[in-house]
Amino acid sequence: MKKIVSGILGLVVLSLASGLLAAPVVSLPKGYESWEKSRQKIVDDKKSLFYGVHYIYPDKKAMKVYKGGGSYPEGSRFVVVFYSLKNEGGKQVEGKKNMVVLMQRDKKQQETGGWLFAGYGADGKPSGIDPVKNCFECHQKDAPERQFVISKIEDFAEKK
Ligand code: HEC
Repeated sequence: MKKIVSGILGLVVLSLASGLLAAPVVSLPKGYESWEKSRQKIVDDKKSLFYGVHYIYPDKKAMKVYKGGGSYPEGSRFVVVFYSLKNEGGKQVEGKKNMVVLMQRDKKQQETGGWLFAGYGADGKPSGIDPVKNCFECHQKDAPERQFVISKIEDFAEKK
């Protein structure tokens, strides 16, 4: 009996640990608001996950590769901040912040292409998303040839 109980306990501990490994909880990088910021990007298709306004913030390491090519070094990060769209006198304007996402180069995250994917609420608290199902499948499909980074430097800057 004792053996069975400790066996079960072992399993519980193991599955908890693997759960943690699959979705490590990292905090949002401090000061990302002062990184380079993309132009305002608006998606007005209500069916899109990106419906609303968003801005992309690559850190210095990511920016080098984003601009010049090469492979993203360990630790490179991209943060995207999302806001709702609201109608103001017939014009679509930026509403409240509603979500933040992070991609951080991490070679341990083999299941998600060597990037750690994480989602946060407007308050910056982790939202506990499944990085494979909720993030990677789409990035894998859209940008297999760009190390799963979907946006491009060309659409980062102000449109001329
Ligand atoms: C339905 C497809 C889809 C899903 C699901 C998705 N993304 Fe993205 N992601 C995109 C697209 C499209 C862009 C580029 C947006 C742009 O060009 O403005 C993007 C951009 C990003 C970027 C900026 C770097 C890049 O690849 O351009 C990060 C960081 C990011 N997503 C993280 C996440 C996280 C974390 C999740 C899961 C919570 C997630 N994404 C889920 C489609 C998706």
